[in-house]
Amino acid sequence: MWELKGERRAVGLALLLLLLSAAAQARAPRRYTPNWKSLDSRPLPKWFDEAKFGVFVHWGVFSVPAWGSEWFWWHWQGERIPAYENFMKENYPPGFSYADFGPQFTARFFQPDQWAELFQAAGAKYVVLTTKHHEGFTNWPSPVSWNWNSKDVGPHRDLVGELGAAVRKRNLRYGLYHSLMEWFHPLYLLDKKNGFKTQYFVIAKTMPELYDLVNSYKPDLIWSDGEWECPDTYWNSTAFLAWLYNDSPVKDQVVVNDRWGQNCSCHHGGYYNCQDKYRPHSLPNHKWEMCTSVDKASWGYRRDMTLSTIAKENEIIEELVQTVSLGGNYLLNIGPTKDGLIVPIFQERLLAVGKWLQVNGEAIYASKPWRVQSEKNMTVVWYTSKDSAVYATFLNWPENGIINLKSPQTTSATKIRMLGIEEYLSWGQDPQEGVLISLPPLPPTALPVEFAWTLKLTNVK
Ligand SMILES: *[C@@H]1O[C@H](CO)[C@@H](O)[C@H](O)[C@H]1NC(C)=O
Ligand SMILES: *[C@@H]1O[C@H](CO)[C@@H](O)[C@H](O)[C@H]1NC(C)=O
Ligand SMILES: *[C@@H]1O[C@H](CO)[C@@H](O)[C@H](O)[C@H]1NC(C)=O
Repeated sequence: MWELKGERRAVGLALLLLLLSAAAQARAPRRYTPNWKSLDSRPLPKWFDEAKFGVFVHWGVFSVPAWGSEWFWWHWQGERIPAYENFMKENYPPGFSYADFGPQFTARFFQPDQWAELFQAAGAKYVVLTTKHHEGFTNWPSPVSWNWNSKDVGPHRDLVGELGAAVRKRNLRYGLYHSLMEWFHPLYLLDKKNGFKTQYFVIAKTMPELYDLVNSYKPDLIWSDGEWECPDTYWNSTAFLAWLYNDSPVKDQVVVNDRWGQNCSCHHGGYYNCQDKYRPHSLPNHKWEMCTSVDKASWGYRRDMTLSTIAKENEIIEELVQTVSLGGNYLLNIGPTKDGLIVPIFQERLLAVGKWLQVNGEAIYASKPWRVQSEKNMTVVWYTSKDSAVYATFLNWPENGIINLKSPQTTSATKIRMLGIEEYLSWGQDPQEGVLISLPPLPPTALPVEFAWTLKLTNVK
């Protein structure tokens, strides 16, 4: 009798334990394993898609020669391009090395709060800073970088930490650009000589720095780059990402891009950058980001910049609108000077985006692609949607003041207005297809923006 009772009790207990462990499993966060199949299945934290617009900042020792592009060192001493060799001959004493630029990277006038204020006024929801470009100089006191970091040389400041604090004070998300490779690091060159069969560089430099960046600065985004010479197995990328997603202090919020090894880009990782300045022609089925630079010829600041390579306000806004309509985020780059200043032409372009977004942000932030992305008749139109509204941004004002939208199907309850203007607009069914909308007959100075106006349509299909 007693024994039977004991058995029953044991069975009951086992059942209870089974139920409890099932419940615990249901509650336990999903764990990722270090392979692409598992890592690629992670849902992208939703803040990223909602953010839509970010500012990219390329800043480092390359901001000292500030000539040609941020690839200065490679063009000079890797490829030995004559223009770069001559530039050095004509402007610096014999024997001047790239390392000699380090102390001149002073960041003397760097005021992180001013930068953050500008980025916020630009309407950016995230900021991505180069923590380390291919030159290997770290903008933070890396524990595995001796005399080639911003604490020991140059600014004697923690640039990554200072900008992060300023950006977060304004509730912007903070992303860290990080180059996996370093052109001239002796251990990288050794691994390269060994056909990347050894990982001296990854073990001594890349991985310790990536873990340090995550633990020290708790980034919302890691913008990986410099991956292209080696497979992801050399970089140990999947092991790092599994830790990042499972156990890191930012595991729930962090977003990463797709540059984690040769042939990864556009195939694996978090969102896709594909190549720089990537512009798909139709709606991709994976979240993506277009990164581009106000100075079309360089990401870093260069003194030889001229107006001819500076993107115009219209071009920038058109790219933003097109990118968001096609489901992407727009990451617009500027390069500060070696003393930590952002030149007025960059300020002006960023503030122009901010001004446009003040009026039209409703069609951009947290929007979703609509069933049609664009159409073109008298002007190009880009669509987005949010809740039950459809937004149509048209780039040029039609001469007759009437705009024809082919794709929206109106109902008797349809209402249409222009963002920035309170009154509803009158519209009629187009005899052929779609809707004809009479634009408000306002003088140019009374229009809400100077370029790319947004119509908000409700109760359309
Ligand atoms: C790289 O990954 C291998 C196995 O995946 C592991 O043994 C090694 O410790 C990792 N190295 C670093 C630096 O993370
Ligand atoms: C990447 O693709 C190229 C071209 O198809 C190929 O030669 C190379 O071996 C690939 N690399 C890896 C790591 O798969
Ligand atoms: C373009 O729009 C006008 C109205 O503004 C319309 O009459 C015309 O049919 C449209 N053309 C095409 C090709 O849809």
